[in-house]
Amino acid sequence: MNVLGIETSCDETAAAVVVDGRTIASQIIASQIHTHERFGGVVPEVASRKHVETVTWVVDQALTEAGMTWKELDGIAVTCGPGLLGALLVGVSAAKGYALATGLPLVGVHHIAGHVAAACLNTDLQFPALALVVSGGHTEILVVDEQFRFSKLGGTKDDAAGEAYDKVARLVGLSYPGGPKVDRLAAVGNPEAYAFPRSLIEEDSYDFSFSGLKSAVANELTKRRNRGEEIVVEDVCASFQQAVVEVLVEKTARAVKHTGYQTVVVAGGVAANQGLRRALSERANADGFAVHFPPLQLCTDNAAMIAAAGTFLLRAGVRHNLWLNAHATFSLSDWQAGKV
Ligand code: KG4
Ligand code: ZN
Repeated sequence: MNVLGIETSCDETAAAVVVDGRTIASQIIASQIHTHERFGGVVPEVASRKHVETVTWVVDQALTEAGMTWKELDGIAVTCGPGLLGALLVGVSAAKGYALATGLPLVGVHHIAGHVAAACLNTDLQFPALALVVSGGHTEILVVDEQFRFSKLGGTKDDAAGEAYDKVARLVGLSYPGGPKVDRLAAVGNPEAYAFPRSLIEEDSYDFSFSGLKSAVANELTKRRNRGEEIVVEDVCASFQQAVVEVLVEKTARAVKHTGYQTVVVAGGVAANQGLRRALSERANADGFAVHFPPLQLCTDNAAMIAAAGTFLLRAGVRHNLWLNAHATFSLSDWQAGKV
């Protein structure tokens, strides 16, 4: 089964062809990062315009690189939410246009389901599995079943993990997107230098909270600057990262213990984080469960993950029609209920 995936939910215009939900035949990503960098974040209107300029070219490239024509495809999958509304609309409109022109089946994919599917590429997973989703907009622990259906165990009450990384990066003067930069500096800093809070770690729930941690970093920096003390950015990054990672690892390990599911997939941009990869792998080894991280280039937004998720859906008989819409906010349960 050859599925074309299209992803335009934020600042990457991406298209990919995936074979049988496992093998990437092509993968094109046109990043707008340099366009948005000077604004310190993604400007939604600018993102939409860039997607309009790029989407058809990216799709053509994905087919060319895969060495396939439209006739060899079996379906089209597109991110239909959540994300920036205007940006999503570009991908959804393009996908509907292609589906109408070619007669190929169309499926709208929830962006988070896509991130989870990235960890399923090239691996045989044991379902039901647990998914730790850590992206710019989400921090959740989910159960994923054989039909690729999701149920939520818990999630963040305020900031997402990636959001906290980006905000702390700003506080220490690192440019957007800050997450990967904090990760790099954390590797050479002292994680014990600052005692930042491990929010909700004791609470017997799968909920997270990262805004207090971000405020603790801000307060500490202000206090030290007012006193004229030197701030070692590497130490701030390492201590902050340690606080985030400890909570993520602890709650995930607890979910394994309580549910009995022995496989964890980690999904979303923060799945690229070296500190998290190391600490969760060590915990998995110690506790005896399996953990799968997507390859680094598949952790952030891409279309191969959308094509892979789309393949699960098409196999399950899911089809969406030309009423498919874009949804800025979108729960997994509404998506699963077909409210697309
Ligand atoms: O999943 P994603 O592409 O966006 C959403 O779908 O929301 O993730 C982007 C987020 C950003 O907040 C970025 O700073 C963070 O993932 N990120 C990282 C790393 N790489 C990306 N955070 C920590 N460490 C990293 N290595
Ligand atoms: Zn994403």
